[in-house]
Amino acid sequence: MPKTDISPYLLLANIGHLLTLRGGAVPRRGRDLQEIGLIENAAVLCGGGKILAAGPQRELLRDPWLRTNRRKVKELDCRGCVVTPGLIDCHTHPVFAEPRLVDFEKRIGGAGYEEIAAAGGGIRSSVAAVRRSSRGELSKKVLAALNAMLEQGTSVVEAKSGYGLTMEDEIKSLEAIRDASRQWPGEVVSTLLAAHVVPQEYAGKADDYVKKVCDEMVPLAARKKLAQYVDVFCDRGAFTQEQSEKILAAARKHGLGTRVHVCQFTAAKLAPLLEHRPASLDHMDCVQPEDISLLARGETVAVLLPGANYFLGHREFPDARRLIEAGVPVALATDYNPGTSPTPSMPFVLSLACTHMKMTPAEAIAAATINAACALRLQERKGSLEAGKDADLAVFDVKDYREIAYWFAWDRCVEMVVAGRVVGKNA
Ligand code: NIG
Ligand code: FE
Repeated sequence: MPKTDISPYLLLANIGHLLTLRGGAVPRRGRDLQEIGLIENAAVLCGGGKILAAGPQRELLRDPWLRTNRRKVKELDCRGCVVTPGLIDCHTHPVFAEPRLVDFEKRIGGAGYEEIAAAGGGIRSSVAAVRRSSRGELSKKVLAALNAMLEQGTSVVEAKSGYGLTMEDEIKSLEAIRDASRQWPGEVVSTLLAAHVVPQEYAGKADDYVKKVCDEMVPLAARKKLAQYVDVFCDRGAFTQEQSEKILAAARKHGLGTRVHVCQFTAAKLAPLLEHRPASLDHMDCVQPEDISLLARGETVAVLLPGANYFLGHREFPDARRLIEAGVPVALATDYNPGTSPTPSMPFVLSLACTHMKMTPAEAIAAATINAACALRLQERKGSLEAGKDADLAVFDVKDYREIAYWFAWDRCVEMVVAGRVVGKNA
């Protein structure tokens, strides 16, 4: 307990289930993914934006410092609700201007995602509107999405560019992310995804575009400190393995972290990508068996995005059980974007993970908190409720933590605490 005066203090009292996600090895693998550090009848004391203590309420209230300083401490009565670390959405594409309704209806009519993209829909069809939009217009859209995420329990978001596809429009997209993040209480990690697809004007000249990304866009994003990561869509219809590796190498050369969209539609060889030390490999619908053991030995997190499978109407989902049982660290995210996953809701993703990927509610929550923090390399500060870590917490109006994944399309998040302050809904 602190003896110095850090103000303000916040006590979350009368918590029914507190999921601390404390202790253990990170990222969580195999059986350890079940370890959510559940404490019943708990309380959490926050101060100076950090967690000061989290534990059984009876013990916490006996603390001599708290007993003498109780009047300085603001109290949030959680009335038996469930409290988790703020959820971490470690993969989103929020910088777009319009929904893709033509693609939506075409798919309902039976067309596939790649087929629609090849016919002029898909990612390229979101580009024109982003190019036409001002930085201010885009930042408003990004902020609206961040607020919708916060409403449903998310306090950390990874946000990618990727619908500009020119130097100017990718930088504008990253600036829109930065502008929005400055008006949002949570934390945003930004990623340059200039290599989302080959833009129309480079049709037949993909290598020229890759060179532009490597020699101009990555260095400028790094110099302007607008991105912490570089991502590339390595798949059929986007960038080849070889092109992807060039982009990852450029990212590292300029001091940026790496992550890759891979194995969404077609299998890829993961070993050469892993050479570039990606923080995460994302989608992972079709991973080859020999790559699973490779992933199990490394620190790269497999980020699974079942919202995309759901929205594209796929019957198959990423094989979470196989990855978990082999010891691969897995995380979950929304993949919020206009083409494959227009949802800001992490609780809905938890539901999909349980119903369609057979993850247990405990595993899904660990994948959306501590392992998602690892996917962003934020595990020292985020993803669990332990003394010294950031005081980001979500309060859900349910009695049992399993209900967070059980009720679907029903927002049960009632309070958010970010950096030790009540924000959003009932602030
Ligand atoms: O993660 N796969 C590539 N990118 C997005 C889709 C983007 C879009 O269709 O607009 C995804 O699913
Ligand atoms: Fe994505």
